[in-house]
Amino acid sequence: MKEIIWEPQLSGFATCKEFVEEFQPGEKDLVLTNEYIYQPYFGAMNLKCAVLCQEKYGAGEPTDVMTEEIMKDAAKTGCERIIAIGGGTVIDIAKVLAVAGDESIDELYDMAPNLPKRRKLVIIPTTCGTGSEVTNIAILNRTRLGTKMGLVGPAMYADDAVLIPQLLETLPFGVFATSSIDALVHAVESSLSPKATPYTKLFGYKAIEMIIRGYQTIVKEGREARIGLLNDFLIASNYAGLAFGTAGCAAVHAMSYPLGGKYHVPHGESNYAMFTGVLKNYMEIRQDGEIAVMNEYLSNLLGCGTEEVYDRLEDLLNQILPKKALHEYGVTEEDLKEFTTSVMQTQGRLMGNNFVPLDEARVYKIYKELY
Ligand SMILES: [Fe+2]
Repeated sequence: MKEIIWEPQLSGFATCKEFVEEFQPGEKDLVLTNEYIYQPYFGAMNLKCAVLCQEKYGAGEPTDVMTEEIMKDAAKTGCERIIAIGGGTVIDIAKVLAVAGDESIDELYDMAPNLPKRRKLVIIPTTCGTGSEVTNIAILNRTRLGTKMGLVGPAMYADDAVLIPQLLETLPFGVFATSSIDALVHAVESSLSPKATPYTKLFGYKAIEMIIRGYQTIVKEGREARIGLLNDFLIASNYAGLAFGTAGCAAVHAMSYPLGGKYHVPHGESNYAMFTGVLKNYMEIRQDGEIAVMNEYLSNLLGCGTEEVYDRLEDLLNQILPKKALHEYGVTEEDLKEFTTSVMQTQGRLMGNNFVPLDEARVYKIYKELY
């Protein structure tokens, strides 16, 4: 049993300037980023590397189509190292660039996990949610299949993960909210996973504490209070990434993918729509084991009894990001059956990490309850 996988080297810098001095981006490098991030922090440095701005290839979360276009332009640069500076979309596409040759995205999915490492990879996250800088998975919307799926392979680990809290200073509150809730879900799902170990739980539970304490401060002192907490949230997101990188995510992610794929709901928000609904259903099936440990831990953080932790957690999270019922996203009753089938057929990788097995009837029941 794998206790913990910690593949990329991890570096931290207070400023982008310090990163550039250490990593020396040059002619053999390709930076994949967004203009609004690159210009203010790196623009004046006149780096010699090639730069591709992801938003020029389409808005929103990464699709197979968008990624294939970027693969073509990246190949033209002849780069040997990819430097990703951005949120989940940029990072996920950069991971594909590290393994991409002439294949289509569908062919890469067929080859996975035996993907070749074709370029070095440096990842610098600019949100506090994905933890993706330390994992080997990219989530793409496979538009031809109509759902999001993970592309996974050892070659997709970054060589270097770099944390620069300065880059989060301009993060809008909405992105802060959805990305940090995603990190909280990573920490909770990985800690309840049958693949959790004392090492993954060390990082997972600490991330839960840091995120909940941070939210409590923000609720008490106002949204601007997050600025002083950005380094904590960036580290918590990284901890959660280390935890789920080994122990995996589960039903919350699996069930959120059809919603995100069809209705373009941001990843963290679609996770939040499923989060406590899944936990409550775990509890209907089994009340002892790790879920009892988790509930006790949450009750201490939230200052409530263990029987009401999910409701009190939701009260707190609703002040950061209001939860919506599925029909508010445009989901129809017909979709619920379609989503259930999609989860059972395409999300086996994640559903294998559930705290207790969830069958098709249970998945449908959860969707119904959240509808
Ligand atoms: Fe996630």
